[in-house]
Amino acid sequence: MSIPANKVAPVVVAIDGPAGSGKSSVSRAAARALDFGYLDTGAAYRAFAWSLLERGIDLEHPENAVAGLDDFPYAIGTDPDHFFVRVGETDVTEAIREPRVTDVVRHIAKLPEVRQGLTALFRILIAGTQKAGIVVEGRDITTVVAPDAEVRILLTASEEARMGRRSKELSDHSAAVVGEQLRSRDQADSRVVDFMNAADGVLTLDSTELDFDETVTAVVDVVRNQTARISHG
Ligand code: CDP
Repeated sequence: MSIPANKVAPVVVAIDGPAGSGKSSVSRAAARALDFGYLDTGAAYRAFAWSLLERGIDLEHPENAVAGLDDFPYAIGTDPDHFFVRVGETDVTEAIREPRVTDVVRHIAKLPEVRQGLTALFRILIAGTQKAGIVVEGRDITTVVAPDAEVRILLTASEEARMGRRSKELSDHSAAVVGEQLRSRDQADSRVVDFMNAADGVLTLDSTELDFDETVTAVVDVVRNQTARISHG
């Protein structure tokens, strides 16, 4: 995608956080409130895992996964009102949330080649947004994907709050099962990227005591306070 020469660089809002911190839904709602674009980087990791599963590739053998990156016809929407993820012609927006994908995504997320490939893609998507800014969320956005972002937030919540939220989303899973899955995914992920502790200059926003709307308002307030370029209207 070519970027018009006169385009001002978008305001980048980088949001990291563990599973169940609410970062996807909060980031999307904050993007909507700010009239910004929205990039769910976890959706790209999930879509890549989905595409490998679809091709019957054994994800526990990393070399197979890395080769799959060369042929990954992936598209992701950055409009918070019309979010989609496609692999080739297939809309996988819903399919990438299935437990069979969640269960295996860690195997590919730990591979440096995969992280580098997807990070390069994210930077193109960020630079190409047509909006004044973009909210980018994931595990390594404040530290690796966009360490120079104007606003960097680590969205956290207590483990108990995160488990409670996630088991409400997945009504067919018992709280104990969800809790165990979250814990083991956080553990695997945190071996790759430290998203439990804020890096220098990253603001920690703890949503344990906040409901959804309060969390969105808190993010929007941080963005408005930290960014002189955003109108308060
Ligand atoms: O379910 P949750 O919101 O926690 O995860 P997600 O954002 O959908 O991401 C799914 C998985 O992709 C994570 O568990 C990580 O293994 C991986 N991921 C990553 O490694 N780096 C990112 N920037 C985003 C996701």
